[in-house]
Amino acid sequence: MTSLAEIAGARYEDPVSEIDWTAVDCECWWMPPGSLSLAGVREFEALPLATRRRVSQLEYVHLLQAGLWLESQFIARLASLSHRTQDPARQRQLLREVREEAGHSLMFVELLQRSGFGIDKRRGAGMRLVEALGGLLPTDTALFWALVVVGEELPDRLNRCVRRGVDEATLSAVVYRIAGIHLRDEALHAAYARRQCRSAAAATPRAMRVALAPLLSLAIDLYARYVYFPGADLYARAGLRPAAGWRRAALANPRRRAQVGELLRPTREFLRRCGWSLAL
Ligand SMILES: [Fe+2]
Ligand SMILES: [Fe+2]
Repeated sequence: MTSLAEIAGARYEDPVSEIDWTAVDCECWWMPPGSLSLAGVREFEALPLATRRRVSQLEYVHLLQAGLWLESQFIARLASLSHRTQDPARQRQLLREVREEAGHSLMFVELLQRSGFGIDKRRGAGMRLVEALGGLLPTDTALFWALVVVGEELPDRLNRCVRRGVDEATLSAVVYRIAGIHLRDEALHAAYARRQCRSAAAATPRAMRVALAPLLSLAIDLYARYVYFPGADLYARAGLRPAAGWRRAALANPRRRAQVGELLRPTREFLRRCGWSLAL
């Protein structure tokens, strides 16, 4: 098995050049049917195959949009941190992450343009609040690294469902490849963020962590809702009406809620081990 150090030292491959873009295919699933927000909802499962596949494509597009937003935040913060650090090894690590996140974003933009889905920059009030709070947060603090762990791990968990779903349905080869490249790099990013999070939390007084824990909890809830429960416009784009009713069905979907609980669990458990007192 390849070690993290070996992967980190490996030659950089531009993800855009690793993909055969002529194979972009909108006639197949982009997310496995069992990983959709409406999976298991009787009325949804009764819809025509083409409609459900379209929802799977739009839900993957939503994941890419969430990725583009997040990566733009990381690139800005990590680039400025790399400029300020005195440690050359740390500077290299941070700049490597900036390069990889830019590579991911280029890959996402390429798929969104070639598939005709385009780029949608709208975000709900919850995410605008997270962005505003994030802007106020000093870089390199315990709360900053806890949020980086959350930001790296939550979309990555859904991305992993794409790779696992290959036996469930015929997935787009391009999407499968994008998901594979992304999770390969994200494994390194998450491992680095966890190390930083652990040491920053250990260096922060307990009283401070207790005081900031509700803010961390709120950010996790808002971000999880944004990543795992797309807005009504997604269902409208897929032709599902009334779109708000379908979104309510997704929010109430017991299967989705259980899946989200499972996807969040490892991150919450890790943060608790770091001394963040998050509610169960
Ligand atoms: Fe990324
Ligand atoms: Fe990342």
